[in-house]
Amino acid sequence: MPTTTDEEPLSPEVARAGAQEQQRVEEVRQQIRRANYLYYAQDAPELSDAAYDALMQELRSLEEQYPELLTADSPTQRVGTDAVTAFTPYPHRVPMLSLDNAFSAEDLRAWEEKLRRQVGAGPEMRIEYVCELKIDGLSVNLNYENGRFVAGGTRGDGLTGEEISLNLRTISALPMHLRPTAPKPAGSLPEEGEPALSLSAGLFAEPIEKEVRPASPEAAGVPARIEIRGEVFMSHREFARINAKLEEQGGKTFANPRNAAAGSLRQKDPSQTAKRRLDVFLYAVGECEGWMFQSQFDLLRTYREWGLRTNPNVRLCDGIDAVIAFCEEWGGKKGELPYDIDGVVVKVNSFALQRELGRVSSRAPRWAIAYKYPALQVRTKVESIDVQVGRTGALTPVANLTPVALAGVVVARATLHNEDEIRRKDVRIGDTVVIQRAGEVIPEVVEVVTAARTGDEIKFSMPTECPSCGSPVVKPEGEAVVRCPNEECPKKNQERVKYFASRTALDIEGLGEKQCEQLTQSGLVRDVADLYTLTKEQLLDFDRMGDKLATKILSNIEASKTCPLNRLIAGLGIRHIGEHSAEVLAAHFGTLERLQAATADELAGVFEIGRRTAESIRAFFDEPRNQLTLAKIHDAGVRPVAHIDAPQSDRFAAKSFVFTGTLVRLKRDEAEAMVKRMGGRASGSVSKQTSYLVAGDEAGSKLTKAQQLGVPVLTEEEFLQMTAEAETKSED
Ligand code: IVH
Repeated sequence: MPTTTDEEPLSPEVARAGAQEQQRVEEVRQQIRRANYLYYAQDAPELSDAAYDALMQELRSLEEQYPELLTADSPTQRVGTDAVTAFTPYPHRVPMLSLDNAFSAEDLRAWEEKLRRQVGAGPEMRIEYVCELKIDGLSVNLNYENGRFVAGGTRGDGLTGEEISLNLRTISALPMHLRPTAPKPAGSLPEEGEPALSLSAGLFAEPIEKEVRPASPEAAGVPARIEIRGEVFMSHREFARINAKLEEQGGKTFANPRNAAAGSLRQKDPSQTAKRRLDVFLYAVGECEGWMFQSQFDLLRTYREWGLRTNPNVRLCDGIDAVIAFCEEWGGKKGELPYDIDGVVVKVNSFALQRELGRVSSRAPRWAIAYKYPALQVRTKVESIDVQVGRTGALTPVANLTPVALAGVVVARATLHNEDEIRRKDVRIGDTVVIQRAGEVIPEVVEVVTAARTGDEIKFSMPTECPSCGSPVVKPEGEAVVRCPNEECPKKNQERVKYFASRTALDIEGLGEKQCEQLTQSGLVRDVADLYTLTKEQLLDFDRMGDKLATKILSNIEASKTCPLNRLIAGLGIRHIGEHSAEVLAAHFGTLERLQAATADELAGVFEIGRRTAESIRAFFDEPRNQLTLAKIHDAGVRPVAHIDAPQSDRFAAKSFVFTGTLVRLKRDEAEAMVKRMGGRASGSVSKQTSYLVAGDEAGSKLTKAQQLGVPVLTEEEFLQMTAEAETKSED
């Protein structure tokens, strides 16, 4: 209990913790660590999220009350501390090597042949391999001393990276303490996905170097000192959430989850890293004192026991055929994973054999190889660079490529994003480049193969005038994008009309690229409102336009007059307004007139609408040109319908939600409306049919019931995350 004396007046900051508080703090920390271990390393959570949050809350308030109990490794200290100005060098005690690649089954067989030759292994000799997924993230090297995380860094050049300990601490999947292993009978190793199952040792998997082992180094249950290595990555879900957020705030979005993970991990301000939920899988060891691993499989099992997160999709393969089968299997399944992989890493299981094989060079070991899935990246040549004008006037450089097959389609163009990106990658006309397709994203140029340069390549610079209308371009302060400022720019107009007619917006079938080009180039359509005054005769003048198509287009235009309000809002092309924000605005304001009349403050007060977006909406409606278009649209008889409760997406189709407790960011009815908008049902009571219970603070009997029935429980934050995923992008 806190005590006080006359000489030492007691302020809340100097309250002394008694033994009881100390004990409770330790207890709660232990419970949190155990929960983290079960959740991240074992994939078998026992605590509900609400219960976990309650523990964290308790710990936070105890630490606030008794600051002397606060320790740097407390689970509460993982939300990021003060920003650093520069990263310090982080030397690796054992170099971090890279891997040679294999691209086919033949490559894998050739690799195994070489291994056999090198160790003089005949065909009768079995070699065991461990196949692991090759996580597409950033490799990190973590130092643990006597089980405590002390520091961590990036790979850098393999010898020295950058220290990013504070950022790493924000990754909740990363334990700050290793859990000591329980003593185990020798020689028991787990099967794939299973805890310890006995395994035939195989020729090279026998316990080795018994005589040189320190007297039972495992006695302490953790090594004295170890460099633990693995990959930090970002899940697709988190990537979508971060990009949706960046987009709403008008920031630059990340091209892929890997870039997002890299950007987040190298934040100077750890509190920023903490906002991005990074994840980690551990799979390798550098220097290690006071522990002996027998094999890669033993290492993975031990890591899991220590509470380190390891990827569950590993397989111990008896021979190269089984390795090839694993690679092929995952080639078909990799799209189902919630994160990106770029191949399979095949490792010789036995550490004794690994040591015998050694390295190819100082760069890569002989005992492992990266099997890469073909054709998600290919090389081709940049024949020329075009500049496209988007509906917001953004000028995007696009590379015209020598056509190549990539992931099943022929690719002839790839985005270069913007001038900064071209400069960073130093892409020149005539260069051989590596292009890639990541998921549904348009192909992009990854890097230049500088070794293939002839000296004839031509540097590219962005035009200073709009390629469509010739207006001098502008580059707003702090933005990477160059824009055409001319509101009358024909190309910009064409893109706006195309977007207005697209599926995201008014869904006017028949108005594709070609038709929009003709409509705008002919001068018939100067803004989207002009679509409503088109006649059949005008349309029939166009190339490849028959009576049937013209009639269809006109009837589709007519039908669009009673489109849902959110689609009209999306179609206007207001900067920073994508499909989701349009839904939010439609649901909140109900009519276009009310939205138009809202002040920036009112707009910013709408849940999920940020200040920048609010200002962008206001600026749009204040622009006389837009006012004219809106008046014309109204005069043409466009009367959007506000389907506030009608589903606007099927994200939650057939899902039912129950809300309980006090929600912090949402009002209960707002949350229920969100569910309905996404096609789900909101109900008042928990039953077996309930898909999710969203539990706010002080959730009571509904929470207990959900737990009893095994209904998944979400925090408010998690619910918001789920809804954020439904957001799709608008152009910059
Ligand atoms: S083992 C000496 N295992 O791939 C080999 N690497 O091309 C140490 N990677 O730098 C690496 N998943 O960033 C290994 N399961 C895995 C991996 C993996 C991803 C990355 C890692 C490494 C690169 C090698």
